Amino acid sequence: MASLPQEQTLAFDPTMSEVWLERRWPEMFAEMRATDPLHYTMDSGYGAFWNATKYKDIVEIEALPKVFSSSWQYSGITVADADPEIEAEDRMPMFIAMDPPEHTPQRRTVSPKFTPSEMTFMEPEIRERTGVVLDSLPVGEPFDWTDVVSIELTTGMLALLFDFPWEERRRLTRWSDYAGDINAARDKDFAQERMNVMYEMGMYFAGLWEYKKQQDPGRDLISMMQQSEAMAHMPEKMFIGNLILLIVGGNDTTRNSMTGVARTMHLWPEEWEKLRGEGEGSKVIKNAVQELIRWQTPLAHMRRTCLEDYEIRGKTIRKGDKVVMWYASANRDEEMFEDGDRFIADRENARRQLAFGYGIHRCVGARLAELQLTVLVEEMLKRGIQVSCASEPTRVESCFVNGYRKQMVTITRS
Ligand code: HEM
Repeated sequence: MASLPQEQTLAFDPTMSEVWLERRWPEMFAEMRATDPLHYTMDSGYGAFWNATKYKDIVEIEALPKVFSSSWQYSGITVADADPEIEAEDRMPMFIAMDPPEHTPQRRTVSPKFTPSEMTFMEPEIRERTGVVLDSLPVGEPFDWTDVVSIELTTGMLALLFDFPWEERRRLTRWSDYAGDINAARDKDFAQERMNVMYEMGMYFAGLWEYKKQQDPGRDLISMMQQSEAMAHMPEKMFIGNLILLIVGGNDTTRNSMTGVARTMHLWPEEWEKLRGEGEGSKVIKNAVQELIRWQTPLAHMRRTCLEDYEIRGKTIRKGDKVVMWYASANRDEEMFEDGDRFIADRENARRQLAFGYGIHRCVGARLAELQLTVLVEEMLKRGIQVSCASEPTRVESCFVNGYRKQMVTITRS
């Protein structure tokens, strides 16, 4: 049972949908950081929780996995608690929601797919597919960048990663959208619909798993999991849970950073001008990609559950309390990033962005995300593509995935 702190001044609830739909979060977090940076929200659609809004505090919390647990047994890694009506045997545990020692071998199984040499192996294909998509874009006619560019490129990358049937790749998008939608925790009908989609996905992957077992092992993730001691014999629910993790991890996040390219180009064309003339392998482009990920912060938060009383900023977080680490806020923290809501392509410390998290759970796919975004920017620059937003975007109604459903744009080519 969470213990309520004695004094409470202002009441902030950054989980409210409007805050994300209308992009009111930058101001809300700025106010929280200024007035009460470790704020306790007593009441919200997701119950009570602590808000860690400062960069330094989030790093401190993430460095202590024995005190601040990620485990699904305490409801996992989002502000939404697990549905108590879901039976234990129906849960789909994934390693992002595990603590050591369970977490370690499972992470180790997939990480070889994300080494620098694997990135070198994947790069030509990613570059080629990116080029094909960019060359198909209509010049001077409005189109939805989210669908035509961001979704197309990220689902294509996932299909490559899993050796997933190419013609069916858009299924990955649908599954990922459902899996990452934490609104299910507040809506019973939607929760059921989501669960059905997760089963549909589970069935599909169970079939793919069986099929791949009959083939010679490839370089894809499913083959890799099948070859590993830690994962080859895992219960089916856990296997599906980990696939969901990789799909959501690789899909929603990179996709929304790609739409961030369109947004920032539209809002700050002079910043993108700084990259003109830069080519493959440019450090300036790599820096701009870090800045883009910082500015977008595609996952707004991760959650931990406190396992023993812990003091921070003069307050005591009690055993059992829920702590929400707002990366979106840390990446705007004025003690770390000046004028943080602005995209500055050559920002000196952009690499220190916290969008991939920190510590033992730091994003395992970070290198792949960076590669995809770098290739996208490089290939756009090669073609002299300039994007202008034709309207305001439709944003995702979520305090977890900080992203876009639709962004109409027009492009020019020079
Ligand atoms: C811009 C793109 C991305 C962002 C912003 C992002 C963000 C994150 C964050 C915040 C975490 C949790 C970190 C923590 O708890 O400290 C995470 C973990 C993870 N991400 Fe990503 N991610 C991205 C791309 C990807 C890609 C492309 C993949 C794979 C295809 C991926 C797979 C994973 C996995 C498997 C974990 C769990 C790691 C663990 O628990 O040890 N992510 N990511």
